Amino acid sequence: MATGSTFRPRIIGFLCNWCCYGGADLCGVSRFQYPPYLRVIRVMCSGRIDLKFVLKAFLNGADAVFVGGCHLNDCHYNPEGNYDALVMSKICKKLLGHIGINPDRFRLEWVSAGEGIRFAEIMNQFSKSTRQLGPLGSSEGIDKQELAFKLEAALKLVPFIKLVERERLRVPIRTEVEYEKFFASGDLDRLFDEIILEKYTMSQIVSLLQEKPLPTSEIAERLNLNPSEVSRHMGSSSRYGFVRYDVASNCYAIA
Ligand code: FES
Repeated sequence: MATGSTFRPRIIGFLCNWCCYGGADLCGVSRFQYPPYLRVIRVMCSGRIDLKFVLKAFLNGADAVFVGGCHLNDCHYNPEGNYDALVMSKICKKLLGHIGINPDRFRLEWVSAGEGIRFAEIMNQFSKSTRQLGPLGSSEGIDKQELAFKLEAALKLVPFIKLVERERLRVPIRTEVEYEKFFASGDLDRLFDEIILEKYTMSQIVSLLQEKPLPTSEIAERLNLNPSEVSRHMGSSSRYGFVRYDVASNCYAIA
């Protein structure tokens, strides 16, 4: 793990205008110190942070991403705004873990406009832990090209994930306890493994085939999958007309 003293991580921070941004401002006015690694993007609500923003930040070279919102039940718009950010953060961490990126590179926190000192403490901790993790990709043993490939495949999946989220991840009672109970129940894990991972694999296969037609064995090798698993995916995709098999070259291609 690269923890060299010269490593200066790039941390992208999406801060809600009404609370966390105010906390960051107060932190600065009060002259509380934290390392200068954070690049702030002000948004109106943490619920506005799309999973796509986080993945794009990593794709564009961020070593870590921070999302800061109002405390739960204090959102200034829809009372569900920061609960949406909470669901996004759970999915994001699972997706990062599956891609091979350390989920600790993403952090969600609630900071009010009066909590300048709390903002500084969080930034000090997050800067330190990100420095210990080292640069994105090389610390995880994933080269730049492979990392971009994995993140692009995940990005293509975001509309589908949002659909699943809307249909299957609605927690009827809006309290943090209910949310934690829901996520601890394993429902998210099951949903992720059964539905999202399947589609993620397919998204990777489609990305490969967009480059050029490939035989099953090469797809399996490139994605570190069992050839029978690739065949299963290709079978269902052929039935739906997404890919076609060319007998002469023994390759699959985008239909
Ligand atoms: Fe701050 Fe919604 S306005 S989280």
